[in-house]
Amino acid sequence: MNGIICYNSYNKMQSYLDNINMYYKAILNVCDSLKTVSSAQIMPIIENGSAAFDNIDFALFLDKDICLAKLLENSGVRVFNSSLSIASCDNKAYTHSILTNSGINMPKTYITPFTFNTFGYPNLDFLDIIDFFPVVVKQAYGSLGQQVYLAKNKSELLNIAKNLPKEQFLVQEYIECGNSDTRVFMCGGKAKCAMKRHNSNDFRSNAELGGVCTKVSLDEKTALMAENASKLLGLDFCGIDIINSGENQYLLEVNSNVMINSLAKVTGINPADYIAEHILKTIKGQV
Ligand SMILES: Nc1ncnc2c1ncn2[C@@H]1O[C@H](COP(=O)(O)OP(=O)(O)O)[C@@H](O)[C@H]1O
Ligand SMILES: [Mg+2]
Repeated sequence: MNGIICYNSYNKMQSYLDNINMYYKAILNVCDSLKTVSSAQIMPIIENGSAAFDNIDFALFLDKDICLAKLLENSGVRVFNSSLSIASCDNKAYTHSILTNSGINMPKTYITPFTFNTFGYPNLDFLDIIDFFPVVVKQAYGSLGQQVYLAKNKSELLNIAKNLPKEQFLVQEYIECGNSDTRVFMCGGKAKCAMKRHNSNDFRSNAELGGVCTKVSLDEKTALMAENASKLLGLDFCGIDIINSGENQYLLEVNSNVMINSLAKVTGINPADYIAEHILKTIKGQV
């Protein structure tokens, strides 16, 4: 069984490089050969309507290059996660749309109408529909909490919206959850472990913004919500962010390209081992 780990050519963050290394060590145990390759190294030319990759059975895809993922799939490579699942998670507006009417609770959310980046939004009148504050504004594409903003009132919302890229974004009810969330790690359709993240200085609990991570045990309700979402999005593995407020539980987002180093440190469970086992079983046809 020959595999590759495909990573983004331009992300030089140390935590990302550490993750690639953790995945490499675990997956090497279950295959005959494993190479790490950047998207820039293997992006082929499509010639005579075809793209070819030599002797690759599977790709662990740690990039978000859905074109490359699809080219690999079309040439017979099993890609973990699939191009469709990565695309479904990468755009938060699309993730919410997929999960809507499926019984998964999410904060009240408004997705702005689609615009072309040539036109942007000539006015923001559509935001008159927002009659609940505070709100969390999220760019459709974003991660590590960096494209997520809090607006206490209409004028703050308009100010944030004016400065966003010329594309769809989300406006979401702010849920009072004590600046904490639960990150659930999923593999093969099952919730495997979880950590709580709490930030005393920011409503965003992302570890990269100073969120402190601690191990939590998985309760049935949280595991079920994560498992349903993972199934609807067709994921092999992922990290799901869930918040609690009183009796209510809300799904915030699903990460197809999950960082595993904090999870491993805090829970003592190496998520990469689960992924290695899942890849092995899938390629051998046991899943
Ligand atoms: N609706 C919300 N109410 C309260 N806190 C939120 C809400 N949405 C996001 N957050 C906080 O902001 C963090 C980042 O938001 P998230 O949607 O997970 O985007 P990212 O992809 O940047 O991690 C969450 O982990 C959570 O702590
Ligand atoms: Mg998140």
